[in-house]
Amino acid sequence: SRRVTVRDLAKAKRNGERWAMLTAYDALTAGVFDEAGIPVLLVGDSAGNCHLGYETTVPVTMDQMVMLSAAVVRGTKRALVVADLPFGSYQESPAQALHNAARLMKEAGVQAVKLEGGERSARTIELLVDAGIPVMAHIGLTPQSVHAFGGYPVQGRGDEAAHRLLRDAKAVQQAGAFAVVLEAVPAELAAQVTEHSAIPTVGIGGGPGTDAQVLVWTDFAGMTAGRVPKFVKQYANLRATLAQAATEFAADVREGTFPGPEHSFS
Ligand code: KIV
Ligand code: NA
Repeated sequence: SRRVTVRDLAKAKRNGERWAMLTAYDALTAGVFDEAGIPVLLVGDSAGNCHLGYETTVPVTMDQMVMLSAAVVRGTKRALVVADLPFGSYQESPAQALHNAARLMKEAGVQAVKLEGGERSARTIELLVDAGIPVMAHIGLTPQSVHAFGGYPVQGRGDEAAHRLLRDAKAVQQAGAFAVVLEAVPAELAAQVTEHSAIPTVGIGGGPGTDAQVLVWTDFAGMTAGRVPKFVKQYANLRATLAQAATEFAADVREGTFPGPEHSFS
């Protein structure tokens, strides 16, 4: 069976059908989500903090994104794979963005790219779309701007900020984006943007009114160490499960109860 396409997502919007997106950073995990029927997988630059051990997404490089994205593509058959353009890989010029988006498509085989910014990125989105590259936009809280924001504050609070978000959503739609992520915005505003949007909105911390929902897989699976944001629902407790397994394995080895005869060759 073929992969999900941006046309399928446009049709879902017309039919009022909601869908789920998860991040993935490797073939193994991506394969699990693909088999579970998650229609869109995002190789997020959240790989920086969720997979590679950095504090933020800022240090993530193109070479890293190409390697992780190629693994996710290899591990999947059905999902539409979207890869993030990391910080510094598209802001210099639309030409730089085109060069790096093409790398993700040619070297990793992804079917779409994502970049941050509304009005400020509209010209770049337009050039990529003109070149035949499906682009997912990302507005509201854009984590690559963490040092400009001074953290990860909720966006779109107050009339002026709300109007800016509506303008950003309109700008990326007009530039030809096939979908737009709304991160950390009040639920009422995200619903309002969705109502005015001809392309699917994908919420993360945007309440129940968006067309789609995305979660970072390590958050949704309970793999993340420490606190997770308010908008995360943990559907599993993988960190505790794996830690328990590792603890038991170490104890079995210390006590000589593993391997048993059933795990040994005679
Ligand atoms: O990198 C990422 O995981 C993202 C999602 C949170 C949308 O951009
Ligand atoms: Na991202």
